[in-house]
Amino acid sequence: MAPASTLAPESAPGSESAKARTVLVAENLGRSYHGNAVVSEVNLTIPAGQTVAVLGPSGAGKSTMLRCLAGLEPLETGSVGFQGELLSKAGSKPRSVGGRIGMVFQQFNLFPHLTATENVALAPVRVRGVSRAQAREEAHELLARVGLAERRDHYPYELSGGQQQRVAIARALAMRPELMLFDEPTSALDPEFTREVLAVMRDLADSGMTIVVVTHEMGFARRSADRVVFMADGRIVEDGPAETLFTAARHERTRAFFEQILGE
Ligand SMILES: Nc1ncnc2c1ncn2[C@@H]1O[C@H](COP(=O)(O)OP(=O)(O)OP(=O)(O)O)[C@@H](O)[C@H]1O
Ligand SMILES: [Mg+2]
Repeated sequence: MAPASTLAPESAPGSESAKARTVLVAENLGRSYHGNAVVSEVNLTIPAGQTVAVLGPSGAGKSTMLRCLAGLEPLETGSVGFQGELLSKAGSKPRSVGGRIGMVFQQFNLFPHLTATENVALAPVRVRGVSRAQAREEAHELLARVGLAERRDHYPYELSGGQQQRVAIARALAMRPELMLFDEPTSALDPEFTREVLAVMRDLADSGMTIVVVTHEMGFARRSADRVVFMADGRIVEDGPAETLFTAARHERTRAFFEQILGE
């Protein structure tokens, strides 16, 4: 498919954003189910290295938007550009970019009959064409990076939820993603396991990975995200630095959300 130069705003000379390479550009995204708009008029530009937390009430359309960004949902309006190329556009099937966009969901979805190492090594062998030996070596490195060197030969049923989620993160990283999307990665976990998964995500953010994470972890959003996007009723209500949204939101809807959450 032809590169969509209009989706690469880093080419705009003279602007401040020209310095930061843009990884993802969503323009006017719209998606509905059974005639009900679930995502409407979403515009989002994600520069390289940024960690963006997406917050909002249940049913706001956060998961749907994330799937649209990943090219996993057909769009009714708008387009998504990834690394300067058209990923998805209203009226046509999204292009597959494989593991270049890594996804981690609430449910870990590991292969139950494969060890942690085998789970991580599988896609690099099948998709990247890496040798089995090299894929295992890379898997061991990634599992060590997420704190699981000791558990690399364990099966999912022998691992805690937090450990399984860290295997899922290592598995996504094995495809050398240029963008990582997380959808409530800690929602199924007890607090002690939540902490260790958030620590891995924090490390990933510090290493320069570009991240979009839908989360209810307000502490993580406030401390680790460069930017917070607040969604309600399928729309981005407010988008800005975490501290601004937490303490000085412009919109009443945003303020009400944070007052309720932080007051709990
Ligand atoms: N496959 C589907 N078919 C029909 N309706 C759907 C489908 N997926 C989502 N919806 C509806 O779209 C709306 C937004 O859903 P979505 O899962 O994107 O919200 P969310 O912000 O991620 O919510 P939560 O915080 O509960 O995960 C909801 O009203 C939901 O019922
Ligand atoms: Mg959701």
